[in-house]
Amino acid sequence: MNPNRTPVIAGNWKMNPAAPGDALALANGVAERMGALPIETVVCPPTIWLESIAVALAGRIGVGAQTMASQEKGAFTGETSPLMLAGLAGWVIIGHSERRQYDGETDERVGLKTASAIAHGLRPIAAIGERLEQREAGETEAVIDRQLRAAVSQLERIAGSGLAVAYEPVWAIGTGNAASGADAQAVGAQIRAILVELGGEAAAEVPILYGGSVTAANATEFFGQPDIDGALVGGASLDPDGFAAIGAAAVGAVGR
Ligand code: 13P
Repeated sequence: MNPNRTPVIAGNWKMNPAAPGDALALANGVAERMGALPIETVVCPPTIWLESIAVALAGRIGVGAQTMASQEKGAFTGETSPLMLAGLAGWVIIGHSERRQYDGETDERVGLKTASAIAHGLRPIAAIGERLEQREAGETEAVIDRQLRAAVSQLERIAGSGLAVAYEPVWAIGTGNAASGADAQAVGAQIRAILVELGGEAAAEVPILYGGSVTAANATEFFGQPDIDGALVGGASLDPDGFAAIGAAAVGAVGR
């Protein structure tokens, strides 16, 4: 981590927990433990609970959606518009690998959604990462290059846009098989170099998160890397104590 960049610790709850009371308790538990930390803490609950959780949190920590449509309104069954999210959520995950895999999210749509989020005052966390067979074929760098350039392709500017990027190798998600700190750093450095190439030196401010089996036990290894500025956490974000321990590791890493 670089002390000049504020760490971002985001919890992607995915389709959990199943009961609204449990979701509220989780959000409050995270806010109690992390609300005072000098980092950006974000919880990303299922869409149906965004409103009740945003009200309950009252700004103590950030709230994010897990996806959104790029369009503002219209015949898009089941979708959520950026206009509906604005005011409730400050953040939105775009292009998560599970949406790419199960919902046909394409690079092109990720680019449109990332730009739409920014246009509506939301901070997008653009998620990119290679699948196992791509890694084994030596294609990681090419996949990251393609996905990142597509994600930012519709932006007028990168610096000052609020963009964050998450490197989530698909083989590390939910497997307990996290990337090594060195692997995460290598891709983090590649991402930062592309952002600076496209957006100028000021684009180096964009937070780059690592995601994929992050826990309190391995977080310090990631946060010790110069181009990793935080984490996008799945399973471990469902336990307030474990998630708060990841936040504490981020605080320690930047010496705040
Ligand atoms: P896990 O932390 O459960 O591996 O999930 C990572 C993830 O997909 C966050 O978006």
